[in-house]
Amino acid sequence: MKESDTVLDTIKKRRSVRRFDGTKISDEYMEQVLEAARWAPSGANAQPWRFIVVTEKEKLKSIAERCYYKAFKSRHVGEAGAVVVICADPDAGSQTYQLDAAIAGTNMTLTATSLGIGSCWIGAFEEQSLKNMLNIPEKLKLIALIAFGYEVGKASVPPRLPLSSIVHRETYDGTNEPNIVMKNRYSGPFSVIGKLLRVLFNRR
Ligand SMILES: Cc1cc2nc3c(=O)[nH]c(=O)nc-3n(C[C@H](O)[C@H](O)[C@H](O)COP(=O)(O)O)c2cc1C
Repeated sequence: MKESDTVLDTIKKRRSVRRFDGTKISDEYMEQVLEAARWAPSGANAQPWRFIVVTEKEKLKSIAERCYYKAFKSRHVGEAGAVVVICADPDAGSQTYQLDAAIAGTNMTLTATSLGIGSCWIGAFEEQSLKNMLNIPEKLKLIALIAFGYEVGKASVPPRLPLSSIVHRETYDGTNEPNIVMKNRYSGPFSVIGKLLRVLFNRR
C-alpha cells in the first residue's frame, strides 16, 4: 500500500478478481486479512462469524465445483491462493448475523487489497454440499466464500451508479431514479457476445 492511500483509495482499488496465478499467500498476510475480520463490528458484539481457511489445491478445486450459478462456474475459486468460507451462527446473539458476517468479509477484502492481494466474493454455491465437504456444523449458515490470490492481468472496473441517483437528502425523492440504461447495461447485443464468451471460457 502506498503511504498516501486513504481508506477510500483502497475501497476504489478493490476489484472482483477472477483470474489468479495460484500462488500461495503467506501466513503473515492471511493472518492480517483474518485479523481485519475479527475487528469488524457486529450486532451486540456477538461476533457470530466463523471462518474456514482453505489452501490445499485439491480442496480448492473441489470447492470450485460447488460454486456456480446456472452455466456460470466460478472456476477462479480453484485457482485461488486461499478461500475463506464465511459462516455465521444464528444463535450467537445477533439478529443481524448475516450482516455481521458480510461486514467481516468486507474488512477482509479491503485488507487484502491494501496488501496487493486480489479477492472475489462468491455468493453462488451449493450450501449443503460445501457443509458436508468441510465438516461445517449443521446449525451454522454458510454466508459466502471469498477467494483470495494474486491477480493475472487486470480486472476491468464495473461502472457505479452516480451518487445523484442513489442518495436522497432529508426525505426520499423519487425524481432521480437510477438511469435505465445503467441498470440494463448488460442487456445489449454486445453483452450477449460477452456472456457467451464467459460461458465458453468458463468465467462469470
Ligand atoms: C454478495 C456477493 C456475491 C457475489 N457472488 C459472486 C459469485 O458467485 N461469483 C463471482 O464471480 N462474483 C461474485 N460477486 C462479485 C460481483 O459480481 C462484483 O462485486 C460486481 O460485479 C462489482 O464488481 P467489483 O467487485 O469489481 O466492483 C459477488 C459479490 C457480492 C458482494
